[in-house]
Amino acid sequence: MGLSRDEKQGLINHIYKKHPSLWVEDTFALTLDHWQIEMLDSPKNRICLNIHRQGGKSFMSSLICLHRALFYPKSLSLIVAPALTQSQENFGKIRDHIDQLPNRPAFDESTKLRLKMGNGSRILCLPGGTKGKTIRGFSRPDVIVEDESAQCSDELFVALTPMMATYPECKFILASTPYGQRGHFYKTWEEGGPEWLKLRVVASECRRITKEFLDEERVRKGPYVYSQEYEGAFVASDTQLISHEAILKSLNSDIPIIEI
Ligand SMILES: Nc1ncnc2c1ncn2[C@@H]1O[C@H](COP(=O)(O)OP(=O)(O)O)[C@@H](O)[C@H]1O
Ligand SMILES: [Mg+2]
Repeated sequence: MGLSRDEKQGLINHIYKKHPSLWVEDTFALTLDHWQIEMLDSPKNRICLNIHRQGGKSFMSSLICLHRALFYPKSLSLIVAPALTQSQENFGKIRDHIDQLPNRPAFDESTKLRLKMGNGSRILCLPGGTKGKTIRGFSRPDVIVEDESAQCSDELFVALTPMMATYPECKFILASTPYGQRGHFYKTWEEGGPEWLKLRVVASECRRITKEFLDEERVRKGPYVYSQEYEGAFVASDTQLISHEAILKSLNSDIPIIEI
C-alpha cells in the first residue's frame, strides 16, 4: 500500500528541514553554488563566509532565515547589517521569497523590517548602528546573521554574542568581503577554531560573473582593492594607504631621470 498524500508531504518536509539546500532549489527553481549548499546544509553552528562581492551572501542569509522560520515554529532569526539601507534590502529579499512560496504563509508585518508568521516564527532585519545599541535585548535567537560583517563595528559584535548565552546551538553566521587586517571578522577568519565552518570563494569561480567584467574591475579598482572585493584578500591597511595611482606612477618609465 502506498503512502497517503499527507504522509508523502510529511516525508518531504522532513527532508527539507534537514537539507535546506534541497528546499531552496526545489522551491525557488535555483541551482545553488557549491559553497551555498555547504553553508545551508552544514551541521556547524558557527559559519564564517569570506565571499566576493555579488556572490550571494545576502541572498543565502535571507534564505537560511526563511527556512528556519518556516520549519521551526516560534523561532527567531536576526539579520544584522551595518546600515539601515542594507537591512531594508535584506528584508525586501525575504518578502520576495515569501511571495514565491507555493503555500504563502500568513504573516503579520508590524514594521518594515520585522515579520511574524502564523506559526509564531519571527524574522528581524536590524541595522547595527555604530555601537550596536539597536540590537540589544533579544534573547535566545535561533539564527543570527551578521551581513557585511567586516563593516560592522566591534561594539556590535560584542552586543550580539551574549544573546547566544542560553542557547549556544544558535546558528551564528558572519558573511562578508574582507576589509583590512582588523576587526572581529578578520580575527574570526584567522583565529576561529574547528567549531567554525570557513568558506572562501573568489569571483572567478562564480558562474554568474564574466571574466570580461572582472578584467574591467581589476583595471578600475587597482590590484589591492580588487583582491579585497573579489579574491577574499585581507589587505594590510599600510598597503592600502599606498594608492593605486602612486604605484602606477612609480612604475611609469616616462618619468625623467634627473642626472646630477
Ligand atoms: N545560486 C544562485 N542562482 C541565481 N542567482 C543567484 C544565486 N546566488 C546569488 N544569486 C544572485 O546574485 C546576486 C547577488 O547576490 P547578493 O546576495 O546580493 O550578493 P552579496 O550579498 O554577496 O554581494 C543577486 O541578484 C542574487 O539573486
Ligand atoms: Mg550583500
